Amino acid sequence: MKALGPIPAGFAAEGGVLVVGGKPVTQWVEEAGDTPLFLYEADRIRDRVAQLRRAMPERLALHYAVKANPFPSLLRLMNELVDGFDIASGGELDIVTGAGIDPALVSFAGPGKRDRELEAAIRAGVTLNLESEAEADRALAIAERLALTPRLAIRVNPDFDLKGSGMKMGGGAKPFGIDAERVPELVRRIAASGAEWRGFHIFAGSQALDGEAIAETQGQALDLAARLALQSGVALPHCNLGGGLGIPYFPGDAAVDLQLVGERLAARFQDLPEVLKDTAFCIELGRYLVGEAGIYIARVIDRKESHGEVFLVTDGGLHHQLAASGNFGTVVRRNYPSAIATRFGAPVEEEASIVGCLCTPLDKLADKGGFPRAEVGDLIAVFCAGAYGATASPASFLGQGPALEVLA
Ligand SMILES: Cc1ncc(COP(=O)(O)O)c(C=O)c1O
Repeated sequence: MKALGPIPAGFAAEGGVLVVGGKPVTQWVEEAGDTPLFLYEADRIRDRVAQLRRAMPERLALHYAVKANPFPSLLRLMNELVDGFDIASGGELDIVTGAGIDPALVSFAGPGKRDRELEAAIRAGVTLNLESEAEADRALAIAERLALTPRLAIRVNPDFDLKGSGMKMGGGAKPFGIDAERVPELVRRIAASGAEWRGFHIFAGSQALDGEAIAETQGQALDLAARLALQSGVALPHCNLGGGLGIPYFPGDAAVDLQLVGERLAARFQDLPEVLKDTAFCIELGRYLVGEAGIYIARVIDRKESHGEVFLVTDGGLHHQLAASGNFGTVVRRNYPSAIATRFGAPVEEEASIVGCLCTPLDKLADKGGFPRAEVGDLIAVFCAGAYGATASPASFLGQGPALEVLA
C-alpha cells in the first residue's frame, strides 16, 4: 500500500459523507447537477487570510496570484480579503476586471507580453512588472502613442533562489525578470521617461515548506531591493517580495511555520535601511491562500480488478487534476490526499487505485492507496485541489470538457 498525502485538518463527515462548506458533498453534487465538481470552501480561504494577517507584520500587504485559481466567484471573494492581485496575461486581466476588481490594484508579470496585452494593461492603469529592457521599450512606446502615463515596475531576476522550493524562479539564467546588475540603469531610464515608477518585483520560487528558507529569501530580497535602490539613485515606492509559501501535498510534508516567517520579517522591518524606510511591501501568494480550500469530487463509474489489483474508475481525471496525477511539475509521482467521500472516515479495507476516464496510464489520481471498499456510484475526493487544478489541466483532452466549479 502506498501512503496518501495529508488531508487538510478540519474535514468531517455527516452520515459517512464528507462535509464541505457546511453541506455533505452529495448535496453539492445534487445541486450542481453533475460530477466532476470542484468545491472551493470560502470559510477556509477567509481563515487562511486571517491567519496570515495575524502572523505577518501589518506593513506587509497581501496580493493574490490569480494564476492559482481564476474562478470568478472565488476572485470576488478574494477582492474582499486581499490588497492586490497579480496577473500573468491579458486573459487574466479580462477575468479580474470581469470580476469587478479595480485594475489599479493589479500588477502584471510574465514573459512574452504581446503589444495588445501591454496596451490593455496601460489603458486600464495596471502596473506592468517589466521582464526585459525590450519590453520596457515597447511599453514606453505604446504609452506615448496612447498619450498615457504607464505604471511601470521591474521584475528583478534575483541572484538567489528559494531553497527547497518546488519551482525555482531566480538564481542564474532565467527567462523571468531582468538580471539584477542591469536593473539600476533601467530604473533611471524609466524615471526619466515620465512614467510612474512603481518599484521592484522579486519572485525567487514557489511551493516551499521550510519557514527558515522562506525567511532567508525574504531577507535576501530586502537586501537586494536596498542595494538596487541605492545604485539607481531613485526612491523605491513599492517592493513585491515574492511569495513561495507552499502547502503539504504529499506524505511526510509539514505546513510552513508561519509564525517564524512573520517574526523574522517583522524583525527585518524594524531595522530597514534608510533607502527602504518609505517603501511599501507586499507578498504575492497563490496556492497558500486557496490550495487547501479546494476539493475535487468525481464519481466511481466502474470497479475493476486486474491481476489482483483494484481500480476505481471515475468520471474525473488528469484533465482536471493534472497535478494530482503527478504530471505538473513533479519528478517522482506521489499521492495527493484523497478519500472515498461517501465513506469518509470509514476504516481502510483494501488497496485500490483511483483512476480517471482517459485512456492513458498517466491518468491516476491515487496509486495503490488504502481506502474503505468503494462501489460504483460512490464519490471520491481529491484534496488540495484549490490551486492549479481546473486552471492548469488539459480540460479539452479527449473531448472531456471542464469540471463544474462552485464556491462552497
Ligand atoms: C511570478 C509568480 N507569482 C506567483 C506565483 C504563484 O505561486 P504559488 O501559487 O505557489 O504561491 C508564481 C508561480 O509560479 C509566479 O511565478
